[in-house]
Amino acid sequence: MDTPFDSARTTAYDDVRTTAPRALATEAVHAGRDDLARQGLHAPPIDLSTTYPSYDSRAEAARIDAFAGDGAELDGPPVYGRLGNPTVARFETALARLEGTEAAVAFASGMAALSAVLLVRSAMGLRHVVAVRPLYGCSDHLLTAGLLGTEVTWTDPAGIADALRPDTGLVMVESPANPTLAEVDLRAVAHACGSVPLLADNTFATPVLQRPAEQGARLVLHSATKYLGGHGDVMAGVVACDEELAGRLRQVRFATGGVLHPLAGYLLLRGLSTLPVRVRAASATAADLAARLAADPRVARVHYPRIGGAMVAFEVHGDPHAVIGGVRLITPAVSLGSVDTLIQHPASISHRIVDAEDRRGAGVSDRLLRMSVGLEDVEDLWADLDAALGEPRPESPEVKRLHEAMS
Ligand SMILES: Cc1ncc(COP(=O)(O)O)c(C=O)c1O
Repeated sequence: MDTPFDSARTTAYDDVRTTAPRALATEAVHAGRDDLARQGLHAPPIDLSTTYPSYDSRAEAARIDAFAGDGAELDGPPVYGRLGNPTVARFETALARLEGTEAAVAFASGMAALSAVLLVRSAMGLRHVVAVRPLYGCSDHLLTAGLLGTEVTWTDPAGIADALRPDTGLVMVESPANPTLAEVDLRAVAHACGSVPLLADNTFATPVLQRPAEQGARLVLHSATKYLGGHGDVMAGVVACDEELAGRLRQVRFATGGVLHPLAGYLLLRGLSTLPVRVRAASATAADLAARLAADPRVARVHYPRIGGAMVAFEVHGDPHAVIGGVRLITPAVSLGSVDTLIQHPASISHRIVDAEDRRGAGVSDRLLRMSVGLEDVEDLWADLDAALGEPRPESPEVKRLHEAMS
């Protein structure tokens, strides 16, 4: 007989599998919640259980055996919190719908998610990774240092096919990349990978701007700490992928313990419901600020992706540390994707752990600043940036002569 818990869970998944395709904005507020009205609920419940009672240990043994086989989600309650959690499962269901994948597996952080992917592949004897710089500093470090026994070959997108080896288990890219916002042609890269799975870190774009699985990526990674949560108060990671890889990831998560707390799962599900609105609003402000920065003589170069987004990177002629010290409304802090605007100096913080030569070689100049634009009014943000950028650079004698000649 179904307990209320069982029927709620089964209904949620059945609904998700049978629902006709819906627009992203609709999925954002409904996916992972389809069973609620039938349960007489409006807000999703938070299940904080670490363990689940069962009077039938033979049935539990069978369910654990099944999980050990293919890592598929357990039918019925999770047995133990490390095997799964219904609140976290709602977030996973919703994110998979938004990314257009069969499944998603959530972790305690983005780095825990990436570690699980590397462990899954190296457990199959596929320890070699091909990756394109720049990546987020700690992802770069994890690969370069070989902390999990992997070996990396760094290349540019055009070199991927040549860099593949019989033991290559993964190709990894970020697009737009942290912190330069460099973009790769995901479809072309996926083609170059052949049968090797492509992992695309989609943290910066979010599924609102780009769905890498549709372009051939087999694994889509997010630091959910960023836009998916969206309010700077949840640390989480998630991998959207096919059911086969999801099963392996769940097995690694069970064995290594990098699980997401249910309260974080709840906050992420809530964050997803406003994701399209937040990303579109912040992106419009970011595009405006990118244009103002590009026209400003104190700014040497602006990086803003073709696909848009709420991240802007720019190189200053002056001292980048003075800009960080000069902001008042904008928060000088690492991380991104919150409702408020943050700015940081990648060479000092997010990419400090990457060797300086490698960092510069990846286009991360020492004068680069990375700004995550939030939901404030654009004029207030510009006033703060304008003040933090300091006095305009004095005109060079040549420019001065030109201006005088034209006046
Ligand atoms: C693009 C990208 N991927 C992965 C990560 C790692 O995520 P987390 O900090 O949640 O472990 C980050 C963190 O900044 C990131 O920016």
